[in-house]
Amino acid sequence: MELRGRTAVVTGGASGIGRALIQRFAREGANVVVADLDDAGMAAVAGEAQALGVKALAVRTDVADLAQVQALAARAFEAFGAVHVLCNNAGVAMWGGLESATHRDWQWVLGVNLWGVSETLAKDLKPYRIAVSVLCPLGVQTQIRQSERNRPAALRNERDERAAPVELIGRSLAPETVADMVLAAIHANELYVITHDESLEPLRRRFERIERSILDHRR
Ligand SMILES: NC(=O)c1ccc[n+]([C@@H]2O[C@H](COP(=O)([O-])OP(=O)(O)OC[C@H]3O[C@@H](n4cnc5c(N)ncnc54)[C@H](O)[C@@H]3O)[C@@H](O)[C@H]2O)c1
Repeated sequence: MELRGRTAVVTGGASGIGRALIQRFAREGANVVVADLDDAGMAAVAGEAQALGVKALAVRTDVADLAQVQALAARAFEAFGAVHVLCNNAGVAMWGGLESATHRDWQWVLGVNLWGVSETLAKDLKPYRIAVSVLCPLGVQTQIRQSERNRPAALRNERDERAAPVELIGRSLAPETVADMVLAAIHANELYVITHDESLEPLRRRFERIERSILDHRR
């Protein structure tokens, strides 16, 4: 896919992987739309893209809010006429056990991480000739451990007791490396972007357990 002159929209574009994706799309000559809750971060990233010679728009968007996502789409179409790449990248992390999570924790994490981010889009969008790639990272050097910084006030807990972040297995990659992998997958129309081969063994063991369960209960 030729990206020069096309339009890429990246949610969570103000930091980390999203920021690296914006820079990568801009270097390919694509105009970019940065969608995030972090106004200062969005302005900085949009400025970086403009310095690379493309048009950049920053649209404050909470991806957990349907009206705001619809407004983002309207702004992007109004500014650029079409959208060719959409990265549903915004996401948050929190640590600690299920037993200590509050209802607001669930609302916050599911609201950001669940809405619209799903592998099934690949099948659903195929008739429209829209390709989907699913990015599955392990550790990446971003601000994900400080997700609380942009947590909406209404979803903050009354008591601020945070668990320490867990260590992910394997290497911790630079966001620019991950952005390169995403671009390669878009160009090659690949469904999965699995960033770490360290995930192979745990995934194999998981599927072996599922396979064993299916075979053991075969009727
Ligand atoms: N960094 C890692 O090790 C790692 C590992 C696995 C998955 N991921 C996923 O990668 C994606 C990118 O995260 P990152 O690591 O670059 O983290 P990051 O914290 O550096 O960037 C995430 C961006 O999302 C924005 N955001 C948060 N809530 C939002 C909302 N409701 N609406 C719009 N924007 C919102 C934040 O303001 C931030 O700018 C996330 O989906 C994350 O879950 C990251």
